[in-house]
Amino acid sequence: MKGILLAGGAGTRLYPITIPISKQIIPVYDKPMIYYPLSTLIASGINEILLITSPKDLKLFQSLLSDGSQWGCNITYAVQDQPNGIAEAFIIAEDFIGSDNVVLILGDNIFYFPSLKRVVDNNIQVTGASIFAYHVSDPSRYGVVEFTSTNEILSIEEKPKLPKSNYAIPGFYFFDNHVIQYAKELTPSTRGELEITDIISKYYALNLLNVIKMDRGTAWLDTGTVSSLMEAGHFVQVLEKRQGLKVGCVEEQAYLRKYIDKVQLEKLASQFNNSYGKYLSSLLDE
Ligand code: TTP
Repeated sequence: MKGILLAGGAGTRLYPITIPISKQIIPVYDKPMIYYPLSTLIASGINEILLITSPKDLKLFQSLLSDGSQWGCNITYAVQDQPNGIAEAFIIAEDFIGSDNVVLILGDNIFYFPSLKRVVDNNIQVTGASIFAYHVSDPSRYGVVEFTSTNEILSIEEKPKLPKSNYAIPGFYFFDNHVIQYAKELTPSTRGELEITDIISKYYALNLLNVIKMDRGTAWLDTGTVSSLMEAGHFVQVLEKRQGLKVGCVEEQAYLRKYIDKVQLEKLASQFNNSYGKYLSSLLDE
């Protein structure tokens, strides 16, 4: 399984912050936003990753993440010239995906997902698509999935004005290789984008869609507006301070997945003369 980290977009809701810089580079408490979805990919057991971003932000990501080998990963890069929609990622990534299956995560989606490894190992299907559903109070901002009382899928809608359920679809999706073909067959929506919801609907129509409800111990945080960005930062701060454990720590997840060994982690820790470095060092003693 290969991984796409989608970090383009315009970030207009965060202007003026994001006029000169990508949303996914700015900090969420103690690390750049992109660390969170990257660590989620790594925790899912994916270390072959394509980062897609806008032409103007490419260099920033390359200087931050390099080729990923420091974390036992292989990170390559591609550009999306215009924010033509999330589903365009599969067309841009066609050569990278090759004949494999693929997971796509949005660069501004933050998960606190303690059961991630178990859920991915047990629930992701090789054929078809697997997506998540997360209970939110304001579903109309997202793709929304409606269930019957026996958990059958009833409908899938993009940003409905009158949502039929409180289950939003987070930006973290697993697809088989057919996704490339389905993306190519899409036509832009009324807002001019190739919609990920249309791809999900295609799998649903084919009876090949698996929706996994995220349990209540999981947090999915949005960072698209100044308020939600601030709230995400506070959430991470409170959790890290209380537990003494980090959320979204790329080095830690790479170590847990055995992509790097103790010697490599020690080297990474020695590069930070601060509490982040101390945290990495503390992992060596466990
Ligand atoms: P959005 O939040 O829908 O869009 P945005 O980031 O451009 O922000 P705004 O609405 O404030 O202008 O995007 C969700 C994520 O998907 C975000 O990480 C950017 C990414 N994205 C792309 O990389 N390319 C695209 O074409 C789109 C639509 C989004």
